[in-house]
Amino acid sequence: MSDLLSLVQARAGAAPVRLGLILGSGLGHLAQAVQGVAIPYGDLPGFPHAGVSGHNPNLVIGDLEGVRVAVFGAREHYYENGNPAAMRPALELLKALGAQALIATNAAGSLRPDIPPGDLMLLSDHINFSGLNPLIGERTDARFVPMGDAHDPALRADLRAAAEAEGVALPEGVYTWYSGPSFETPAEIRAIKILGGDAVGMSTVPEVILARFLGLRVAAISTITNMAQGMSDEKISHEHTKAMAPLGAAKLERVLRRFLRNL
Ligand code: HPA
Repeated sequence: MSDLLSLVQARAGAAPVRLGLILGSGLGHLAQAVQGVAIPYGDLPGFPHAGVSGHNPNLVIGDLEGVRVAVFGAREHYYENGNPAAMRPALELLKALGAQALIATNAAGSLRPDIPPGDLMLLSDHINFSGLNPLIGERTDARFVPMGDAHDPALRADLRAAAEAEGVALPEGVYTWYSGPSFETPAEIRAIKILGGDAVGMSTVPEVILARFLGLRVAAISTITNMAQGMSDEKISHEHTKAMAPLGAAKLERVLRRFLRNL
C-alpha cells in the first residue's frame, strides 16, 4: 500500500482527499469534470485492468465543486474474474489518501414501476443475493462488520436534500446484488421482489462491505436503465444499459455537484 500511495501522491499531490466516487456503467464522463490528475488504472498495481465497456478506467484526483475527491472511473465486477474483493486495493488506497466517505454509483434494473428508466434511486439498504462476500479469507476480527447502518443515514439525508434542491426525484430503495454476467430470469426477479428488492444490479454491494470494513462512510445511488426482466416488454442488454445510463447521468451529476457544494 505505501508504494501505491507514494506513487499516487507523487502524481496527484499529498493533500488529503475528502471523498471517493465510484462511477458505474455509462457514468464515466463525470471523471472528466474533475480538475485534477488522471492516472490510468494500468499504472496502479492491484487495480483492475481490462474492465467492462462503458467504463472509464482512470483514477482522477482533484477538485470537484471545491472538494478534493478521488474518482474511480471504473470498477471490477465479481463476474469479470470471480473475485468479490477486486476493489479492495482501490478502497484501501482511498482510505490511505485520507477519505472519510465513499459514494458508489451504478446502473440498475428497477422492480418499482414508480422508479422508471432514467430515474435515480438512493440505496436505503441492500440484499446480497449472491451469497458472496469480499471479506471471506480476511483473518482479523475486523471482518465481523456490522451492517445495520451500512448506507449512512446522514450522507443519505444530505444526498436527498441535494436532490430536492435540484428538483430531481431521489426515492430510496433496496438494491439487490446479482452476480451476473447473465441477467436475471423472470422467476429470479419475482423472488427478489418477494425478498424486498426494489432494484437489481451486478455491483456495489461488495464495495459497500469493503468500505464499511475500512471505516469509510458509504452511500450509493443507482441510475435506472431498464425495468427488471419480466416487468416490461423492453429487451434487456448491456447495449441498452449503456444507451440508457446517460439519461440518469445528467441528473446524477447535478445531485452530486450540489451535494459536494453543500459539504
Ligand atoms: N439487472 C442487472 N444488472 C443491471 C440491470 C438489470 O436489469 N440493468 C442494469 N444493470
